[in-house]
Amino acid sequence: MAGTTSVTTSRHGLALRVESRLERCQEIHFARDVLGTDNPLVAECLGGRDALVVFSPSIDRFYGRRIRTYFAAQRPDASTEFMVLARTEESKTIDAALSVAERACTAGLSRTSPIVAIGGGVCSDICGVAAALYRRGTPHVNIPTTLIGLVDAGIGTKNAVNHAGRKSCLGSFHPPEHVILDGGFLATLPRRSIAGGFAEIIKLATVSDRALFDVLTDHAATALRSKFREPEWAASKMIDMAVRGMIDQLAENLFEIRDYRRKVDFGHTFSPYFETASHHTLSHGEAVAIDIALSAEIAARVGLVTGHELEAILSLIEAVGLALVWPGTSVCDLWRSLQSIVEHRNGDLHLVVPSSIGNCEYLELGALSPQVLDSCLERLAHRPRSHCGRRRAG
Ligand SMILES: NC(=O)c1ccc[n+]([C@@H]2O[C@H](COP(=O)([O-])OP(=O)(O)OC[C@H]3O[C@@H](n4cnc5c(N)ncnc54)[C@H](O)[C@@H]3O)[C@@H](O)[C@H]2O)c1
Ligand SMILES: [Zn+2]
Repeated sequence: MAGTTSVTTSRHGLALRVESRLERCQEIHFARDVLGTDNPLVAECLGGRDALVVFSPSIDRFYGRRIRTYFAAQRPDASTEFMVLARTEESKTIDAALSVAERACTAGLSRTSPIVAIGGGVCSDICGVAAALYRRGTPHVNIPTTLIGLVDAGIGTKNAVNHAGRKSCLGSFHPPEHVILDGGFLATLPRRSIAGGFAEIIKLATVSDRALFDVLTDHAATALRSKFREPEWAASKMIDMAVRGMIDQLAENLFEIRDYRRKVDFGHTFSPYFETASHHTLSHGEAVAIDIALSAEIAARVGLVTGHELEAILSLIEAVGLALVWPGTSVCDLWRSLQSIVEHRNGDLHLVVPSSIGNCEYLELGALSPQVLDSCLERLAHRPRSHCGRRRAG
C-alpha cells in the first residue's frame, strides 16, 4: 500500500497531507470435520507459516488431542505453538490479550505468522486484540466453536476486551484473515450456550430477514434440543442464512466509519447494562435476548410493530429457552447506562427497533424516558404467555 502526499495551506500555514488506503481481505470458509487429519483446509489457510494456536480449557478437554494430532499430521514442517487460555467474560481483559501477545513473543512469531483462535467469542476477541497489538498487527484466523462464534463473534471485523467495568471498552478493527466455520463443534456445546447463540440469530432475523425468522419459528426449538443435528437441512440453513446475512450487514460499513446506525446493533443497546449489572451471570446472548424483548416492546408501544408481531418475537425468544426480563433490573441504572452508548455512537442513541418483522427503524434518546422503560419492563414481566409460546418453550 502506497500513500500519496500533497501540500495544503490553511490559515495556520502549510500542512502536509498523507492519504492512504488499506486493502483487507477476509475469507470465510464453510467446512465440515475441520480437524479430520485428512482435511487440509486449516493447514492450507496457514500455509507454511509458524502459528500460535489458542483454545480454552473446555476446547482442550473435548478437542485438544484432535487439535494436536491434526497439526502434527498436516503441518509436520511448520512450527505450531499451543496455548490453553483460561479466560471467561469476567476476565476478558487487556491482560488476557497481553498474555497471548507475550506467548507470541516467546514463540518468536514473525509479523506474518498467524494467531489462531479455536473457541467462542471470548477466545476470538482476546486473540483478535492480541493480533492487533503484536508487532502492530499480525494476521489472525478464527475457528469458531460456539453458535455465537459461528454467526457473529468469529466472522466480524472487530474485537474487544472489557475494561474498567465497561463492556468492549478496548479493542480494534482487525479482521481475521480466514474464518473456518464447522457446525460440528456445536455437538459438545452446552445447551445454554446454544440458546445464547440463538439470540444473535433472532436479532438478525427480526430486523433484516423475514425468511430466516420463519425458519427459526418453525425449527429453532428442535435445533436447540438436538444441538443443531435436527432437522439437518434447517440447522445448516439457519447458520448459512445467519452468516450471509451478518456479512451483508457488516460489509456495508465494515469499519463503522460511515455512520453509527447499524441494524446489527439491535439487541446491543441495553444488553451491556444487563451483562455488567448481573456481574456476567447473564451470558452475552442472554443479555441480548432481554434487550431484543425490551426493544420490541418499545417498538410496539410507539406503533412500529403490531401486537401479533411483538408476540411472534417474544414467543421465539422463549421457544429457545431465553428469558425476556432480568429480575435484578434497576430502571435508573439502565437509563444511566444509555449515556455511554450515546457517547459510543457519536452523540445519539440510534436504538434499533423492529418495524414489522424483517425491517427496522432507529429511535433516539428523546423518544425514551425512565418511565417508558419502566412500563415496557412491567409489561414484559407480566406478559400473558401465549399458548403457542408456552408449547414451544416447554
Ligand atoms: N467481536 C465481536 O464482533 C463479537 C460479537 C458477538 C459476541 N462477541 C463476544 O463473544 C463473547 C461470547 O461468546 P460465546 O457465546 O462464544 O461464549 P464463550 O466464548 O465464553 O464460550 C462459552 C463457553 O463454552 C466453551 N466452549 C466453546 N466451544 C465449545 C464447544 N464446542 N464445546 C464445548 N464447550 C465449548 C468455552 O470454553 C466457554 O467456556 C462475549 O464476550 C461477546 O462480547 C463478540
Ligand atoms: Zn452480540
